[in-house]
Amino acid sequence: MLDETHSTAAVALPDFARRRTFAIISHPDAGKTTLTEKLLLASGAIRMAGHVKARGERRRTRSDWMEIEQQRGISVTSSVMTFERDGIVFNLLDTPGHSDFSEDTYRTLSAVDAAVMVIDAAKGIESQTRKLFEVCRLRDIPIFTFVNKVDRESLDPIALMDEVSSTLALDLTPLTWPIGMGVDFRGLIDIANKRALLATERGGPLVREVPFETPEDLIDLEGVEERIINEAVESLTLALGVLPPFELASFREGHLSPVYFGSALKEAGVAELLFGLGDVGPSPLPRSARGRTVEPAEDLVSGFVFKVQANMDPNHRDRVAFVRLCSGRFKRGMKLFNPREKRQMAIANPIFFFAQERETVDEAVAGDIIGIPNHGMLRVGDTLSEGETIRFEGLPDFAPEILRRVLLSDPMKAKQLQKALQDMAEEGVVQVIKPVSDPAPIVGVVGTLQLDVLSARLEKEYGVPIRYEAVSFVTARWIVGERTEVERFMEANRSSTARDRDEAPVYLARSQWVLDRAIEEWPKLKFVAVKERG
Ligand code: G4P
Repeated sequence: MLDETHSTAAVALPDFARRRTFAIISHPDAGKTTLTEKLLLASGAIRMAGHVKARGERRRTRSDWMEIEQQRGISVTSSVMTFERDGIVFNLLDTPGHSDFSEDTYRTLSAVDAAVMVIDAAKGIESQTRKLFEVCRLRDIPIFTFVNKVDRESLDPIALMDEVSSTLALDLTPLTWPIGMGVDFRGLIDIANKRALLATERGGPLVREVPFETPEDLIDLEGVEERIINEAVESLTLALGVLPPFELASFREGHLSPVYFGSALKEAGVAELLFGLGDVGPSPLPRSARGRTVEPAEDLVSGFVFKVQANMDPNHRDRVAFVRLCSGRFKRGMKLFNPREKRQMAIANPIFFFAQERETVDEAVAGDIIGIPNHGMLRVGDTLSEGETIRFEGLPDFAPEILRRVLLSDPMKAKQLQKALQDMAEEGVVQVIKPVSDPAPIVGVVGTLQLDVLSARLEKEYGVPIRYEAVSFVTARWIVGERTEVERFMEANRSSTARDRDEAPVYLARSQWVLDRAIEEWPKLKFVAVKERG
């Protein structure tokens, strides 16, 4: 593992095998933005620090609804960044950092093959890290762990590893180890490559390399205080004695996570993480679809839409569908088939999201993310293929936990509202439910922040101010069963049934007790909380 030859070997691989499509998951403030930026720097994709933030700000000025994001200091949107290093193409998908956006996050994580979990060295596992980790675990996504901010006062590395390992029930193995932490931070031990990386001046970049055979060789290392280096060697020896060695199969199955200690701010350990991502990170994995598994090496193109973002540029009312390619070699101008619409669609202006700008795509392979500008033809969960009706699994809708009736401040705008809600539903911002016996639509969300985003966007982007009204329903369930039985149920429960945007029947329950009773009284029906799309 982790040898220097990977870059030359990579050149001979098929194109898709050189892709690494991953996301960074973390609790807000752990350092995701800083790490993203430093990964881009380490890859040479950008030359100056401050780029990722600057980009964020530009986006914010372009799109007013991001004021919410600014006010609350969180990221409610996600984007893609592609960069290259040593012949490996990295596609980094940004996940929204707030728990309210679990659906959006879930979908983004469905499009990656690996994740980097960033942990603040002073805080260990925080609530959001844990939630995101659980989503990764559902799909057994291999996880790299980056313990960030070792240049600050931190928990002891062994105690930290112990906490992470026991909290997440995950095996860990260190690949880099800190030489001192906080004010004592002097550098890193790069275990895999058997070298110490040191700063030549206090707080400076780690430019000095000292090779070693065993960590004990580093005892009394010149230029580092005896206490600091000896303590680092001692704790590392202890850790290596009790922790499992790196094992590729166990990592790829999601059971074992390689741990990199570092400081994104000081660019310490970032290049090592990037090297690890390229070296042992998985290339595009086969994807399960209904009826068969789609292999990345297949000749014909297939992919799925995991995100739709409307109005990225308010001047152009554009709408971009983000497609994760799963097989084949995509070429610009290709016609792709959308089984839901039963239509071919010519992909004339696909976009790539390079670190610095968007660019038109001429070719793309499995693992790549392309943006397809469209006028509402593509929805989250849609499949695109060269003709075959494929339905990828794992992009479900979740039954909303918060329901609100949408009331118009200006009744003349009913048509605009309908269009705007349809757009927002296609983007996956909210679910729109039409009650059978009431013309006012109900919106359903998983977290309340989505309601704020919805009303802000409707007003700013569509000029449709709305109000919310509480409803007497606590939860929604899709009704599944034989058609006649479903119709009988809907007839008997007119005031608490509805249709979703695909006309699928929905039961709106006034309490958990009422829902339980319906389940009991209608044994031929199922009331489901998760609906696969497509
Ligand atoms: P996020 O995207 O996960 O929310 O975190 P972000 O990168 O924005 O980092 C949160 C804060 O932590 C920032 O400080 C950032 O500079 C700091 N930080 C990130 N990595 C490191 C690190 O390795 N060491 C240290 N010491 N600090 C780090 P801020 O004061 O909130 O923002 P700023 O004023 O520095 O931009």
